[in-house]
Amino acid sequence: MAENTPALETLASLRAYLEELRDTGVEAIPLAVPLPAGAERSVPEQASVESLCSIRSDLGECGRCGLGATRTNLVFGVGNPDARLVFVGEAPGRDEDFQGEPFVGEAGQLLTKIIQAMGFSREEVYICNVLKCRPPQNRNPQPPEIEACEPFLLRQLKAISPEAVICLGTFAAQTLLRTKEPISRLRGKFHNYHGIPLMPTFHPAFLLRNPAMKREVWSDVQQVMKLLGKDQAT
Ligand code: URA
Repeated sequence: MAENTPALETLASLRAYLEELRDTGVEAIPLAVPLPAGAERSVPEQASVESLCSIRSDLGECGRCGLGATRTNLVFGVGNPDARLVFVGEAPGRDEDFQGEPFVGEAGQLLTKIIQAMGFSREEVYICNVLKCRPPQNRNPQPPEIEACEPFLLRQLKAISPEAVICLGTFAAQTLLRTKEPISRLRGKFHNYHGIPLMPTFHPAFLLRNPAMKREVWSDVQQVMKLLGKDQAT
């Protein structure tokens, strides 16, 4: 049976790869088998799923910056590949690094409440970060890390093509908008990120320390709800 070993190894790595894709939010893989001429295509085209899938596969076991050596899990992003709304945070924290999913800690629970208050479920939107790996001790992301990682975020956003992006906190807003303006000046109005309306607002971790600022965040997300037609009573 020794000649079967390479085939079994290939199957095992294929299975591990598919499980990793599933864990990062990919729900389906497009059918790549050419159909005979005239045959009905029974699987719908899923361009955005295909694109997210290939972006994840391009990332691989990423070691493009030093964070590859210190992370537990790469945190690609989670949610609906056809989401109308994407949330972008800073970088995975300890809980996210352990679980491989963005915004699962205390700040993440508050984000989930904000998403629900907007009339969405967590599964309907897409959630990701500027960086895909946790900086040790949650230190600020460094320029080479951003340089290596942001192109993948941009590709994800282009693949999803959402109607709006909400970016959470100073770091995400300043990085995406290429500015040093404080979040207090950036929030509350739409900016243009590669043709996508982007609303900066305070980070949920900041809200946990400053609950009085929830009023500002609610006003920011209400503007996004209006853009998405979610402000009408149902
Ligand atoms: N803070 C972030 O910016 N992102 C996460 O995924 C978790 C906490």
